[in-house]
Amino acid sequence: MSRTAAHSDLFAEHYVDLRAEGAAARVAAGLRERGLVTLDGLNGRAAVLELAARYLDVTPHRDSDPDGLTVLHNTHQHAGRSGFAGLGSGSLSPHTERSGLLFPPRLMLVACARPAEEGGASLLTDGHMVYADLALSHPDAVEALSEDSAGLFGGQDGVLAPVFRLTPDQQITVRLRLDDLVRWHPLVTRHIRALTEALARHQQPLLLDAGEGFLLDNTRWLHARTAFTGPRRLYRALGNPHHSLLPEGSATSSFGQEAVSVLETA
Ligand SMILES: [Fe+2]
Repeated sequence: MSRTAAHSDLFAEHYVDLRAEGAAARVAAGLRERGLVTLDGLNGRAAVLELAARYLDVTPHRDSDPDGLTVLHNTHQHAGRSGFAGLGSGSLSPHTERSGLLFPPRLMLVACARPAEEGGASLLTDGHMVYADLALSHPDAVEALSEDSAGLFGGQDGVLAPVFRLTPDQQITVRLRLDDLVRWHPLVTRHIRALTEALARHQQPLLLDAGEGFLLDNTRWLHARTAFTGPRRLYRALGNPHHSLLPEGSATSSFGQEAVSVLETA
């Protein structure tokens, strides 16, 4: 995949120039309306930290450093270890972050410090598109994936939760992992193929250059990665948004009531 091809419309479509007047309002609008903004000018750890502090309450992660940032790179020490695939160089299946928590962090900020020599594209998927697609093509799958006990996410200490959840304010949220740390309800297993096919139909590549990044709604967008070579390094921050950025219950839905009604009757 060439850098030009992978540095696709997705980056341009969601881009906010942080140096421009009114940037904060555009970041907020981008998250509220589409759940994703793409950014640049994130040159160095301090710049990433400054941006993270501006928009989210950073929460620590098992793999994060004391400042809250996790450096995603190939450690050469985690090959084959369950739940540590992000610290290798292999491809990653579409997932949302911290799916094993009852309340996963709403936002994820990722910034590229050093691109890979080959590969290493981020693959982003709008969960609302997947939901709308499945609601039309496989409504039985949406129904099964929306059951409270659809999956056990995160291993023994994980949580039983649906993939798609309709919130009280009529929003669809998404939770997913497809590795060995999810166990599906027997009635859900047969729908995973339709789900993964729908995910593939809506996946878009994003090959970040140094200083580029994205901020996404982790309850709407799924992320994945292609395998890579070389000393690729990304910074990642997780956390909930400051209230001024994304008030709780703020609308992020972009599809019609028809799709929502599938869940309401499920
Ligand atoms: Fe991830």
